[in-house]
Amino acid sequence: EFALRDAVLIGKDLRKELPVRRPFSHKGTYGHALVLAGSKEMTGAPVLAASAGLHTGCGLLTLAVPSPALPIVASKINEPVFWEWPAEKGHFSSESYVLLKQRLASFDVVSIGPGLGTWDGGHHWLKEIIRLVEVPLVLDADALNLLAEDVSILQEKKGQIILTPHPGEMGRLCGCTAADIEKDRIGFARMFAQKHDVYVVLKGTYTLIATPDGRIFVNPTGTAALAKGGTGDVLTGMLAGMLAQKAAQGQNIETGIQLAVYLHGLAGRICGETSMYATLASDVIDKIGSAIKRLS
Ligand code: APR
Ligand code: MG
Repeated sequence: EFALRDAVLIGKDLRKELPVRRPFSHKGTYGHALVLAGSKEMTGAPVLAASAGLHTGCGLLTLAVPSPALPIVASKINEPVFWEWPAEKGHFSSESYVLLKQRLASFDVVSIGPGLGTWDGGHHWLKEIIRLVEVPLVLDADALNLLAEDVSILQEKKGQIILTPHPGEMGRLCGCTAADIEKDRIGFARMFAQKHDVYVVLKGTYTLIATPDGRIFVNPTGTAALAKGGTGDVLTGMLAGMLAQKAAQGQNIETGIQLAVYLHGLAGRICGETSMYATLASDVIDKIGSAIKRLS
């Protein structure tokens, strides 16, 4: 049976996995990420995720936001390409479905969830998305809450899926409580990853990465400076930004997941050197560059 000693601690060796920034390159070299996030009630989460993705180094980032929220979101950030998502809370017509498939094919990674909200039947909508996306797909926050209604929709996947639950979300996915998850973090993460053939990034003081084949990686860089709303949205964006680069360069995404988790914690630690109290999610984004420098 799997024991704690079989888990691998990730560390400074990751420096050799950083995507190389070559002189003869352009934005296409570093990948195009899609972030689908936000709702009328949550206009900050998409901004944090998109900004974190761009600071992590992807060449292009498209931010898809449901139309009622788009003007507010677009007024807060300049760098993404915006995609006016047809309607809030689900439905797309059969016509837009065809267009959607075409457009989704142009990204190197897709990430969905921060601030999206949940709605009745939302897992049917998510199932269609899971069917359409053929590149690495990151599901976080409300995408996980939609998924929890029926985890079997993961069977529809075409590419690799990465889930980033905190213990509460993991509990909803597993049909138990956050407290149950905390008693056996490795066991639940590993079981879910193997059963559904996905990566599970189970967040916490020591964030775990469970691979589809049952290996476990442990991140040591976390800090209580990160214990504040919005820092999870930053991680989602960093994953999108890092996986876009890995996918665009034809590299395995596994070390990309490790890098994003490690650098997120490191950026939090750099913020914590100034203040363990005052750190905001946007401060963590501002330190992504310093974290990459510290690692490289
Ligand atoms: N030590 C190390 N890391 C920590 C600590 C700590 N003490 N506290 C928090 N973190 C890290 C976690 O590992 C994770 O990467 O901060 C991040 C917090 O992510 P989330 O729990 O997803 O928090 P947040 O982004 O604020 O979520 C906002 O989205 O997921 C929903 O239900 C959630 O409504 C909430 C919203
Ligand atoms: Mg979260």
